[in-house]
Formats: sequence, structure tokens, C-alpha cells
Amino acid sequence: MQLKDKVAVITGSASGIGREAAILFAAEGAKLIISDMNDEAGEATARDIREAGNQAAYCRCDVTVVSNLERLMAFAVQTYGGVDIFWHNAGTASKAVSAEEAGYHRHLTEEDWDQQMNVHLKAGFFGARLAVDEMLKRGGGSILFTSSAAALKPPVGSAPTYPIAKHGLILLTKMMAVELAKNNIRVNAICPASIRTPMIEGLLANEETKHIVDQLVRQMPMGRILEIEEVAKSALFLVSDNASPLTGTILAIDGGRTSL
Ligand SMILES: NC(=O)c1ccc[n+]([C@@H]2O[C@H](COP(=O)([O-])OP(=O)(O)OC[C@H]3O[C@@H](n4cnc5c(N)ncnc54)[C@H](O)[C@@H]3O)[C@@H](O)[C@H]2O)c1
Repeated sequence: MQLKDKVAVITGSASGIGREAAILFAAEGAKLIISDMNDEAGEATARDIREAGNQAAYCRCDVTVVSNLERLMAFAVQTYGGVDIFWHNAGTASKAVSAEEAGYHRHLTEEDWDQQMNVHLKAGFFGARLAVDEMLKRGGGSILFTSSAAALKPPVGSAPTYPIAKHGLILLTKMMAVELAKNNIRVNAICPASIRTPMIEGLLANEETKHIVDQLVRQMPMGRILEIEEVAKSALFLVSDNASPLTGTILAIDGGRTSL
């Protein structure tokens, strides 16, 4: 068991990468706090974990609201006694239309800018800061951020808000890693690309949008869409003691895409 008795809080764990990782972490002995804005799916994830004989509880948290993040940490302390692992994984794609369609610099809205900065960057900063307060009481911990391959290599034809916000998480990872090394708190980030989530499945299921996935696959030297299980295993490595010397690490999970 790689995470025996560790308390792990994962934002955006009702679906996709976060859900898969939560199930894996719990199977590795962690006590999971599932958090999301999608209550039905979040409760279902926690229930699935418990039905598999492992430990999980759900707490609603809109990560863009700091008081929600405070409530989330309090819930973790109340339910399982503290926080050992905090993973800010919640995120959404930019609602802004693509560069080709709109000329993104001119047509990007203030609303899109604020939403993207808040859900990725603001939430990452305040969530991690609150988690650190709890980790200091326990003598250490592990923080993970979900950034994106789009933050490592500017994506062509997409609105800039998502990659800029995700790039901010990379700098936050490095600054916090340096600051917190003396406190036995490791801070790392993953940068996934083209993972098989419901969004990709939806594109594949439609003849008119299938070509978008084909284009993504052509950008991957490995020549395939990556699976959520693969991301979950990489995340498990980073938060576990197997990665004890790793802090400030920015791990591309991208089938070689950003090496092109
Ligand atoms: N799927 C990919 O190919 C890919 C690639 C790079 C990065 N990412 C990142 O991975 C992370 C997980 O995405 P996913 O692909 O599993 O998508 P997903 O939509 O399946 O999961 C994201 C979860 O975040 C939750 N969420 C959104 N806004 C929230 C908020 N304000 N507060 C709390 N929860 C909120 C959603 O309800 C959802 O459950 C995201 O940060 C995403 O940007 C995904």
C-alpha cells in the first residue's frame, strides 16, 4: 500500500482524471476527500470507493470561492483528522472560441479571463495555502497541481486563457516547492495531454468531430490518446513516498507531444 492512512483531498474528483485517481489512491490505503461542484457524481465516486471496501467522503466545493476551500479543509480535518495530500485538479476548458473563429486577443471576454484564472490559478494558490496550514501540523505533506501540456508549449488556435492559467500553476509549483522544502512538503505538477475523458469520447462518437481527435493523435509521437488510468498512476507516484526526492517537478504526461 503506497498511501496507507494518508488523507488525500482531490478537487474535481467527481469525474475524469480526478475520479480515477481517487479510486486508485483509496485502493492504495488513502482516506479520500472527494470534492467537486457536481454533487451527484461526487457522491457516486465516494460511494463507489466505499463499496470497494475503501474510505472516502464527499464535500461540495466550488474551488473558485476561497470560503469553499476553507470549508473543504475543515471537512477533511473533521472527517479524517488532517490533510497529507492536496491535489488541485479541478478545471474547465476555456469557453472562448478558437483563434481562427474570433481573433482571440480582441474577442476574449473579461468573464472568460476571470473564470479561467480563478478555477485554475486562484484556486490552486488558495487551496494549497490552506492545505499547507494543515500539513505543517502533521510535519509534512504532498501537493500536486494539474497543469497541462498546453502550458509547456503554446497551443495553436486556442484561446490563451487556459494555457496562461495552467502556466501560472507551473510557476506556483516551483515557488512553493522552494519555499516548503524545509517543511517536508513536496510540490509537483502534472501536464497531461489528450487524455481519454468523456469529452474525447464525445468527439469520437460523432462522425463530424472525430477528425479533431485524429488531429490530436497526429500530434502525439506515441500515436494514441492516453488513458486516465495512466495519468492516475503517474499522480500516485508523485504524491507517494516513492517520489521522495522529487519537488518542483513538472511531469509531462503527453505521449511525447511537447518534445516535438
Ligand atoms: N483531459 C485532458 O486531455 C486534459 C489535458 C490537460 C489537462 N487536463 C486537466 O485535467 C484536469 C481534470 O480534467 P478532466 O479531463 O478529468 O475533466 P473532467 O471534466 O472529467 O473533470 C474536471 C472536474 O472538475 C470539476 N470542476 C470544474 N470546475 C469546478 C469548480 N469551480 N469547482 C470544483 N470543481 C470543478 C468538474 O465538475 C469535473 O468533475 C483539469 O484541470 C483539466 O484542465 C485535462
